[in-house]
Amino acid sequence: MEIIITDTPDEVARVAADIIAGVVRSRPDAVLGVATGSSPGATYQRLAELSAPSAPGRVDFSAVTVFALDEYVGLPAGHPESYAAVVSREIVRPLGIDPANAHVPDGAAADADAAAAAYDAAIAGAGGIELQLLGIGRNGHVGFNEPSSSLSSRTRVKTLAPQTRADNARFFDSPDQVPVHCITQGLGTIGDARRLLLVAQGAEKADAIAHAVEGPLSSRWPASILQLHRHATVVVDEAAASGLA
Ligand code: F6R
Repeated sequence: MEIIITDTPDEVARVAADIIAGVVRSRPDAVLGVATGSSPGATYQRLAELSAPSAPGRVDFSAVTVFALDEYVGLPAGHPESYAAVVSREIVRPLGIDPANAHVPDGAAADADAAAAAYDAAIAGAGGIELQLLGIGRNGHVGFNEPSSSLSSRTRVKTLAPQTRADNARFFDSPDQVPVHCITQGLGTIGDARRLLLVAQGAEKADAIAHAVEGPLSSRWPASILQLHRHATVVVDEAAASGLA
């Protein structure tokens, strides 16, 4: 595993964006896995700058396909905090990705299990994910694979941990509006990506980063699956790295 420790959170975004831009430059029709939440926000902003028509050596995302990691189950259609809305607002529009090439699990499907299976099939049908961008929860989740998730799990319905619901309450008007269930790529699905890139900033992620990078491989800390991957990169600022030996 490659660990890059930067002085500032801004540099995390700069380093991660440069890695993603490199993938798209070498393969303009790359299939990318994208995370939502706060951690990758500045990375997407940096990528938007790099893809602006006026940017020197601009990166063209028009032929890129993206697959989101996860989606809440049960939010009303068009809810601004649904990950379909977030992916559109923070990634697809700013980067100039064709909306037809943007995929998010269907959290409104009548048959959520079938929607989850269809999502894995769609990823496989697209040729698999070249690079999967990840954030990490304070409890070590990646995607919404909460502690005790099977290390070989596929995309499926999961229940959000109380801590995750509390952490994500900041995106909603009240904590009880945070959905209880989600559809998330499984740890096995994530591990199938040809490259993993995890970004984290801030001291509140230090414990999770330490367990992911230096702890034993364990479903107690789902992000420890990065240790099994042949091409995983972790980009963290000093604060998020502060629990590392
Ligand atoms: C989001 C996702 C989650 C987040 C994690 C960290 O699609 O899958 O694993 O990456 O909850 O969230 P933030 O970045 O908001 O701290």
